[in-house]
Amino acid sequence: MKKNFVKIFDTTLRDGQQGSGSNLSLGEKVKIARFLDRLNVDIIEAGFPVSSKKEFLSVQKISKILRNSQVCSLARHNKKDIDLCLEAMKSSKNKRLHVFIATSDLHMKYKLKLSKSQIIEKIEDIMKYARNKIDDIEWSCEDGTRSDPNFLIKCFNVAIKHGAKTINIADTVGYSTPQEMNILIKKIFNNVNGLEKCNLSVHCHNDLGMATSNSLSSILSGANQVECTINGIGERAGNAPLEEVVMALETRKDIFKKSTNILTKNLKKTSEIVAKLTNSQISKNKSIVGENAFAHESGIHQHGVINKRETYEIIDPKQVGHKTQINIGAQSGLLGIKYKLKQYKLDYKSINLKKFVVFFKKKVKNLKIVDKSLLISLYTDFKKLNLK
Ligand code: KIV
Ligand code: ZN
Repeated sequence: MKKNFVKIFDTTLRDGQQGSGSNLSLGEKVKIARFLDRLNVDIIEAGFPVSSKKEFLSVQKISKILRNSQVCSLARHNKKDIDLCLEAMKSSKNKRLHVFIATSDLHMKYKLKLSKSQIIEKIEDIMKYARNKIDDIEWSCEDGTRSDPNFLIKCFNVAIKHGAKTINIADTVGYSTPQEMNILIKKIFNNVNGLEKCNLSVHCHNDLGMATSNSLSSILSGANQVECTINGIGERAGNAPLEEVVMALETRKDIFKKSTNILTKNLKKTSEIVAKLTNSQISKNKSIVGENAFAHESGIHQHGVINKRETYEIIDPKQVGHKTQINIGAQSGLLGIKYKLKQYKLDYKSINLKKFVVFFKKKVKNLKIVDKSLLISLYTDFKKLNLK
């Protein structure tokens, strides 16, 4: 793999749809997969076949339609899970198996009821079973960031020794901080054998709102794959939002010095489709894809953006398929109002613009939104008053 490159592993169709109220039908999953493929994500985790017939069928169908992305399917440390994944991905030449098991004391004791040595045995068994059937295997430690780091290192060493091509640190409950990710990854690089031939991935959840920062800190520390979802959908507070991680890498290349394969101009459209099909709202101030991500209403900002977009925009919205919007309201100034009159082909030269601004601001002072029809009617009223 190229040195200055980060693989984008999209799990919208697996972890993303696990978010409450996001269930997708087979057809909806296939539709989103086509958008992700066009976005050029490196890997699409298409589902968890053992969980339902629909999941099996969606992995099967998605395996057949992808042109750019690699298909991936999730399994527990269980032979039946693996057989189902492999059966579902049978038709694909470009596939990955993702196996996971929990490694934290809490999960091992209360969920799996297994000791550390039993977990190690399971990893050995499952990796030996899987590697005879598929070459590209990702091994993940669920609740990795709350696990004993020395045990984690042991698990990673065993997984790599038995054929894992990617090891993935899961911050399953979004507990970690950027600095902790950095310390953990350094420790892994210093103590895990064979990492030079293996991808190091992170999978960050957003319970404390740090999924993006944790993913980026991990990249700075040497991770070369990040797992994320469109709009950050997923369990509880969701996963690292793909659009944020990718655009941070793109916009701050000076710091990260990494590229991705993502065709960023498809981000907004993909975000809209995912929001629609998962019945989720994107908050208007959501980074990159929110309705207001490139909207300007206050006078000072409008002045800046109209004269030079970069004054208040760090990304060219076209780069992500979005657009700059000058919205007018009580906080707008003469320049913004003139811009909007011009946009709607209202002859601003035929009125006293300064007086119109005073009139306009008085009329809209208690309104949240001033749309085209309101501006036209205010302009018409003002003309009738003939305030020269
Ligand atoms: O959050 C998590 O631990 C997961 C694993 C399956 C990687 O989604
Ligand atoms: Zn997860």
